[in-house]
Amino acid sequence: MTQHLTIVNHPLVQHKLSLMREKETSTAVFRQLLREISQLLAYEVTRELPMTTKEIETPLEKMDAPVLAGRKLALISILRAGNGLLDGMLELIPSARVGFVGLYRDEKTLQPVKYYFKVPENLSERLVIVVDPMLATGNSSAAAVQMLKDAGATNIRFLCLLAAPEGVARMKEAHPDVPIVTASVDTRLNEKGYILPGLGDAGDRMFGTR
Ligand code: URA
Repeated sequence: MTQHLTIVNHPLVQHKLSLMREKETSTAVFRQLLREISQLLAYEVTRELPMTTKEIETPLEKMDAPVLAGRKLALISILRAGNGLLDGMLELIPSARVGFVGLYRDEKTLQPVKYYFKVPENLSERLVIVVDPMLATGNSSAAAVQMLKDAGATNIRFLCLLAAPEGVARMKEAHPDVPIVTASVDTRLNEKGYILPGLGDAGDRMFGTR
């Protein structure tokens, strides 16, 4: 993947995203849409996975059939909203290894602080896909990616549902080597760090904690 930013403007993705944005959409429907959209985004973020061939036998004859090359994927969810994207992706890529990064924002320094970090072994040998639905300021995303690099990851992609231009710029500055795949880059952040027009708090909307 050579582009730093890929916007998936497929009609199904855009239609589902619009339904998710609507404030009247229920938690159950929001969660179902997120599951569906995550699989469409997974399709895009894995588009250039290395392939190899394997000899198989169909009922009629032998063939060299295309299969994914051995390098295993690691999906890393940024807690807690990342789990909404993770579930759908795992249905599509059931053999992927999974990791979790938990960060909170220190009230004084405003910097992200790690409270949980559990990732698969041998990150350096894996394609690492970091999932978080909302790329807002980009501070926690950039910090999470740095933690993964410190743990050995060298081949990282960042998958989100929505991004703010500020978050894209922050990630580009901190991690120009990490391509971003998203369904939309919205207009801007508000003073509380919410993406406008956005969809509100993704975690609250998927877990019903509003
Ligand atoms: N996180 C969210 O859940 N929503 C935003 O708009 C920004 C960050």
